[in-house]
Order: sequence, then structure tokens, then C-alpha cells
Amino acid sequence: MAEEERKKIDMGYLLRMKEQGEKVSWLTAYDYPTALFEDKAGIEIIMPGDSGMMALLGHKNTLPATMDQMLWMTQAVSRAVKYAFLIGDMPYMSYQVSKEEAIRNAGRFMAEGGVDCIKLEGGANMADTIAAIVKAGIPVMGHIGMTPQSAASIGGYKSQGRSVGAAKKIIEDAKLLEQAGAWSVLVEAVPAKLSRFIVDAVSIPVYGIGAGPDVDGQVIIVHDMLGLFQAFKPKFVRRYAEMGEAMVEAFEHYKSDIKAVTFPGPDECYNIKEEEFKKLVAEL
Ligand code: KIV
Repeated sequence: MAEEERKKIDMGYLLRMKEQGEKVSWLTAYDYPTALFEDKAGIEIIMPGDSGMMALLGHKNTLPATMDQMLWMTQAVSRAVKYAFLIGDMPYMSYQVSKEEAIRNAGRFMAEGGVDCIKLEGGANMADTIAAIVKAGIPVMGHIGMTPQSAASIGGYKSQGRSVGAAKKIIEDAKLLEQAGAWSVLVEAVPAKLSRFIVDAVSIPVYGIGAGPDVDGQVIIVHDMLGLFQAFKPKFVRRYAEMGEAMVEAFEHYKSDIKAVTFPGPDECYNIKEEEFKKLVAEL
């Protein structure tokens, strides 16, 4: 679409997409240039997720994320994004301790990060907190199923909802979040067949990561889809590029050009006027 025809994506657009049955595209981004290219490509939702702790900063999990780090990433992404809907991802322990802290930190994402909504992890246990944030005037997206911040208490990074009881609990979580005022919910790593029931159980948009095709939109981690994160590859990731390999190739090429003294070439050097150079030689 031509640049001048594009409009900033708001919640109304995302709700219309659901109504029309059109799937929404969502990617994470943790830095200015990546967000710029995603926005240019027309990606509809962009989120500097706490997954940046792993993908960008090399941590083993998302728990070390602090509010300051998340705001630093969010602000960089926010400066790049002109059109996409921007989500602020609440880090570990920024909303679990008290509703007051949750509201204050959610407010920081809105005021300092320039986001369109915040996202936080948890189902029934977070319904009251979500209601309090929504009451403070901040739009909230829930995150249920596999919730990485509570991996230690849900048996690790495993798909969820694979028994009748566990599946019913996730459906119930989605309903409670809708009742609490969440405008949408993200479902992570659940059986594809369960997603249909979650979508049917609520009227708000249900987005998915590893939740099959029946949800209202898909998200994956940008470093996963570009082949930049190689520690492991979740089952639901499709690689759209092998940028890690392309980078190694470029670095090797650069090194060999230096060794062969073919870099820099004449076009990559600054010049001095011949006359000035002659004077310099005479003086030296
Ligand atoms: O932190 C993150 O990137 C997420 C993904 C599951 C979308 O929450």
C-alpha cells in the first residue's frame, strides 16, 4: 500500500479484522531498525516482548527483564513505528506484587513507551489486576496457555492444555480475562484443536503463538523467523530467512577482503587534490 494511504492501526482496526475474519500479522521487535522494516512491510502489530532478554541479550529466560530495560527497548521501537499497533510487554514482577504497582508500571509503558496497550501473563490469578489496570484507563491484552514468566510453576516451557482439565482451565481463563475487561488475549503453545474452543468461548480477539490456525492472528519471535536465534527452534516456528548464516558469510567475506587488501578499494577512500598533496609531500 502506498505510504500516503496508510493509517495508524488502532484497536478499532483490529476489532474490524476479527469481525471480517481477516487474520492479523504480529511480530516482536527489540530495536529501531527491525521495527522500521517490519512497519515498512505492513506488519499490523509490533511488540518489544520480554523475549528480547533471550533473543537480543542472551539470557536463558525472560525473568531478568526490568522495567527500565523494557522501556529502553520499547522507546527504540516506538520511535520507528508509524503505523503498527504497538504493545508494551509487562516484565516479570512489574505487575504481580500489587495492583498499584501494576497500574503504575502499565502507565509508564503508555506515557514513556508510547504504546497502544499493555500485555501481561496470567489467567484467573490476574483477572483482578487486569480489571484494575483497565479501570485506570489502560487497554490490556491477556496472555494465557504457556506463560514463560511462570515456567517454573507450570512444569517448564511445555505446551499446555493437553488434558481435559487443563484445556477447560485455559478456556475458563480466557472467559475471566474478557470479563475483567481485557480487549484481547494471546494464547501460547496449546493444541491447535483447543484454540477453536477458546475463540468460540469469548468475543474478544484471540491471537496465537503455537496455537494453530484457528485464532484471529499469529505472532512469532522475529529472531526465530529470521534464523537469528539458534539456541533452539520451537515446533511452531517457520524460518523465513537464514540471516544468521547470511551474517556469518558477510563477516567471513569482510575478513578475507581485509587480509587480501581488497578492502578498502579506491571508491571507499577519501581524496585530496593533487596540488595540495604535492605541497604536503614537499613539506614533509
Ligand atoms: O515476549 C514475547 O515476545 C511474547 C511472545 C510470546 C509474543 O510474549
